[in-house]
Amino acid sequence: MALSGTALGGSITPSMPATALSDLSLYPHGPDPVKDETYWELVRNYFPRPEGYINLENGYFSHQPVSTLQKHQELEQDINKRNSYFMRREHYTAVENARHALSGFLGVGPEELALTRNTTESLNIVIGGYRWKKGDEVIIGNQDYGSMVQAFQQASARYGIKIKTAQVPLHPKSDAEVIEAYTRHLGKKTRMVHLTHVINLTGQVIPVSAIADACRTRNVLVVVDAAHSVAQLEFKLPDLKADIVAGSLHKWMCAPLGLGFLQMKQAHIPKFWPLMADLDHPETNIRHFEHQGTKPIHSLIALGEAIRFHHQIGGTLKQNRLRYLMQYWTTRVEKFPGLSLLNPHTDNARNCAIANVRVDGYAPSDLAEKLMNEFQIFTVAIEHRVVNGVRITPHLSTSLQDLDALVSALKGICGG
Ligand SMILES: Cc1ncc(COP(=O)(O)O)c(C=O)c1O
Repeated sequence: MALSGTALGGSITPSMPATALSDLSLYPHGPDPVKDETYWELVRNYFPRPEGYINLENGYFSHQPVSTLQKHQELEQDINKRNSYFMRREHYTAVENARHALSGFLGVGPEELALTRNTTESLNIVIGGYRWKKGDEVIIGNQDYGSMVQAFQQASARYGIKIKTAQVPLHPKSDAEVIEAYTRHLGKKTRMVHLTHVINLTGQVIPVSAIADACRTRNVLVVVDAAHSVAQLEFKLPDLKADIVAGSLHKWMCAPLGLGFLQMKQAHIPKFWPLMADLDHPETNIRHFEHQGTKPIHSLIALGEAIRFHHQIGGTLKQNRLRYLMQYWTTRVEKFPGLSLLNPHTDNARNCAIANVRVDGYAPSDLAEKLMNEFQIFTVAIEHRVVNGVRITPHLSTSLQDLDALVSALKGICGG
């Protein structure tokens, strides 16, 4: 039986106290929780809604649920009051508590986990900090995130490394096809293979563990950009079988802005220079990579609240709901004349919430502008060597009515 907000102890509003979060885990789901709109309405009420437009660009970062935001703000006020006393005497414990909470979530030991500001910082430690030798080779993907490609290009200019690029198809027919795109470049000089778990341009999921298996005997470091997979897909980091994984927590974890991590096995830690000089920790200590200077500790402490919110829903249910939202609109538009979907939208081993749509006759930026100006739907245009379309990213805060509005807009645009 579906419970109303009142039955759960009062309607949920953005000013609701954080204690009401437990209601989500007590909610008795029906036979198909992914489609239980009464439940998802309760979840949605935790997220502030923008006025005047529908936000279908949740890939940049996710807004915090009100419970996390409230905790975050309380912590900021508290630290502001206690000032340097907190920073000098208590903040180290707070950092270690956050490390432990995140290590439990990710399924790795705390001594393998550096707390960073985002994936970009984490991967710059790896790419810029490796002790490269001239002529070393790396393999990257043709749809890797721009900042990582630039980091490899800088390492190439600085240290003389050679970059080889795997051509990952938009609609792979099998894992073997993707694995081969990478392994065909493996050679005696390959030192690193860089994989993007979920490609941000299209939402395609790369078979990371299978590629890592294929590299196992080659003595190369497998490095994974998990910016879009952590807390969107249900997995633990060891499932990826990688040597190093980096992620951002302000995306699908809905944590405060400016939180990320770098995970690497202890044996690898001394292979990298930190981004900022650190002689406070031995080079075998993961904290060696955390020398950022003074930072917003309240955000780090609020991470615990974000993890709690994620668990209230449950990782598998969240993943399946997000995929359902993507398929809700893509299956309704797929036959519209002149429209193409650039993600593997029906292949559940390779898709997630993110999709990308192209309409013949429209540059991506023109289509995104039309959606915003005429239909008040905010998206993002992707204009890239390989992918040209408009990225559509729903989140937990997205309703079916929001997606109906998108379908109706695309129908009008395509004359479908
Ligand atoms: C695949 C991928 N990697 C890395 C990043 C960078 O994330 P951040 O800006 O949090 O460092 C992004 C950002 O969207 C991304 O999509």
